[in-house]
Amino acid sequence: MSLYGWIAPRGPNGFGYASTAEEVSRGIDLSGKTILVTGMTSGIGWETARVLRLRGAHVLGTGRTREKAEEAARAMGALPGPFTAIPCELSDARSIREAIGRIRDLGLRLDAVVANAGIMALPRLEQAYGIELQFFTNHIGHFMLITGLLDQLTERGRVVVVSSEAHRHAPRAGIEFDNLSGERGYSPWRAYGQSKMANILFARALARRFEGTGRTANALHPGVIRTNLGRHMPKVMDWLMALATPIALKSIEEGAATQTYLAVHPEVEGRNGEYYSHCQPIRPRADALDPALAERLWEESERIVERLPK
Ligand SMILES: NC(=O)c1ccc[n+]([C@@H]2O[C@H](COP(=O)([O-])OP(=O)(O)OC[C@H]3O[C@@H](n4cnc5c(N)ncnc54)[C@H](OP(=O)(O)O)[C@@H]3O)[C@@H](O)[C@H]2O)c1
Repeated sequence: MSLYGWIAPRGPNGFGYASTAEEVSRGIDLSGKTILVTGMTSGIGWETARVLRLRGAHVLGTGRTREKAEEAARAMGALPGPFTAIPCELSDARSIREAIGRIRDLGLRLDAVVANAGIMALPRLEQAYGIELQFFTNHIGHFMLITGLLDQLTERGRVVVVSSEAHRHAPRAGIEFDNLSGERGYSPWRAYGQSKMANILFARALARRFEGTGRTANALHPGVIRTNLGRHMPKVMDWLMALATPIALKSIEEGAATQTYLAVHPEVEGRNGEYYSHCQPIRPRADALDPALAERLWEESERIVERLPK
């Protein structure tokens, strides 16, 4: 726990900045539950998958390759919850379709999906299928995976989309629909912000579709945590984060708390279309709540997916 963690206030539910994934899931028996976690080979996704298994859940964990996911699961040691590795490269349409097929073939219903995988601040413009790579990986890949699995969700299934406070750095338009390729101007942080804005808008659009059902979709900011996410940042940034971690940043255990809370805590049941930080609902940037923008993103995402190789 950082120095700030000691003094940070806790919310009405008793959880806050310094809560860990183990703390927010204490006493919750997840045996018999199946939870899909993307990007569990590293960082907070790994810790989320570990703690869900610790509580007995069967975790379907995605990695870019099966070997990577299996290796990550082995590193967790022996845990009560079973693990199934699902290869899924989120910048590759065929890999995503295969992952959807594999998950469907398991014949299991999903109690929750934690859309956690992500990349950040690529220094130069990179693309997948002509779309800027952060937008494709962080949003389109998850849009495709989750919409392809909606009928696998249980009646009370939860979709948890890992966004970031960096969504506040998204372009003024929220989403630049006329520049999804990035070719009309690219900035690493604006592009990351746009992809994280898309994460919230996607959760909101999904939440609208879930209204009147027991299913829910929420988005979250996990905190600032030193993980492999910073691999594209200058080395000096990594040193600064290493210095700042004991003072004010979250540990990986703390960083995994909010998504674990949203995926399994009973008090979240029925909460739909919200945005959380430190296990508390907060207000995102105003346009992240704009239903017209969320619908436009949904329609554009469908058009992009439609054009991808089958
Ligand atoms: N750390 C923070 O301070 C922070 C703050 C706000 C939001 N977040 C969000 O938290 C989430 C998890 O980040 P983290 O900090 O735990 O980062 P991380 O340690 O880099 O983990 C990211 C995970 O996503 C996977 N991934 C990346 N690109 C992928 C692709 N194309 N296909 C499949 N998997 C892919 C990575 O796999 P590989 O290891 O194979 O690349 C890894 O398993 C991200 O969505 C991030 O935006 C983090």
